[in-house]
Amino acid sequence: MKHIEVKGARIPAIGLGTWQLGGRGGRDAVRQALELGYRHIDTAQMYGNETEIGAGLRDSGIPRREVFVTTKLAPGNLGAAAVRRTAEESLKRLGLEQVDLLLIHWPSGEAPLGETLAALARLREEGKARFIGVSNFTATLLREAVETHGADILCNQVEYHPFLSQRAVMAALGRYGLMLTAYTPLAQGHVQRDGTLAAIGRKYGKSAAQVALRWLIDQENVAAIPKAASPAHAAANLDIFDFTLADDDRAAIDALRGNLRLVDPGWAPRWDPP
Ligand SMILES: NC(=O)c1ccc[n+]([C@@H]2O[C@H](COP(=O)([O-])OP(=O)(O)OC[C@H]3O[C@@H](n4cnc5c(N)ncnc54)[C@H](OP(=O)(O)O)[C@@H]3O)[C@@H](O)[C@H]2O)c1
Repeated sequence: MKHIEVKGARIPAIGLGTWQLGGRGGRDAVRQALELGYRHIDTAQMYGNETEIGAGLRDSGIPRREVFVTTKLAPGNLGAAAVRRTAEESLKRLGLEQVDLLLIHWPSGEAPLGETLAALARLREEGKARFIGVSNFTATLLREAVETHGADILCNQVEYHPFLSQRAVMAALGRYGLMLTAYTPLAQGHVQRDGTLAAIGRKYGKSAAQVALRWLIDQENVAAIPKAASPAHAAANLDIFDFTLADDDRAAIDALRGNLRLVDPGWAPRWDPP
């Protein structure tokens, strides 16, 4: 496993996404993923599955300190009091004393950004989160967080796959020495159906999905969190470290970049131009 090393954190470059992994199936998927070798799990208050994620973690028997666990504060929970109360509720559901990374799931005008970031920093000081960060932040919002509010954040988790350019966000993260966690890294099935990625994969005995994940995590300070309910998919997504993409193949994947944004709810910010 490759690890991202940023600000003293060491994060496995491939994690398990768990959106829509709930109930008994979600609990079992987390345990199975940990048995396969995953050591990075992504959840959120909005997914309604923190209880099952925590149970799967305990079922696996893997020591707590070996797994990097991320959760996210839902929109509506960004005022200082709600940050504290709901982060503590998340910890209770997860059955953990501390999460490794606590994110603002979506930027929102419901509370001043500085207030939310300060509340996150206090939770960090108290040991309830090892690191804090943001999700779905544009380059402009990152600048506001870091330059205006002086936030000591670790990462921005955003949609990123071969069909969506994140040039502006990548440049901002590079400037501040932060990591990007790529969500929806398989473009919810678009990657698997792409002829260019499949053809590249055939050269290496890999699938289009494996090629896309390798292309993502070969980029500096980029991790990816594919979701896989199926154990075969979960295993395949870890099996990407025994080949190297040739420069011309990387260039062919770079050329796919466009503006296919699959996660774009009504409360999303005004995105960076592609
Ligand atoms: N921060 C945010 O706002 C935000 C938003 C969206 C998502 N996320 C995070 O990102 C995670 C991943 O995104 P996503 O769930 O939208 O989509 P995704 O990971 O791009 O795609 C998941 C789909 O790909 C399939 N799949 C997985 N591995 C495969 C493989 N090796 N070969 C073929 N198919 C494969 C899965 O099938 P099976 O499940 O049947 O195995 C599932 O249908 C989420 O679970 C969540 O943790 C965060």
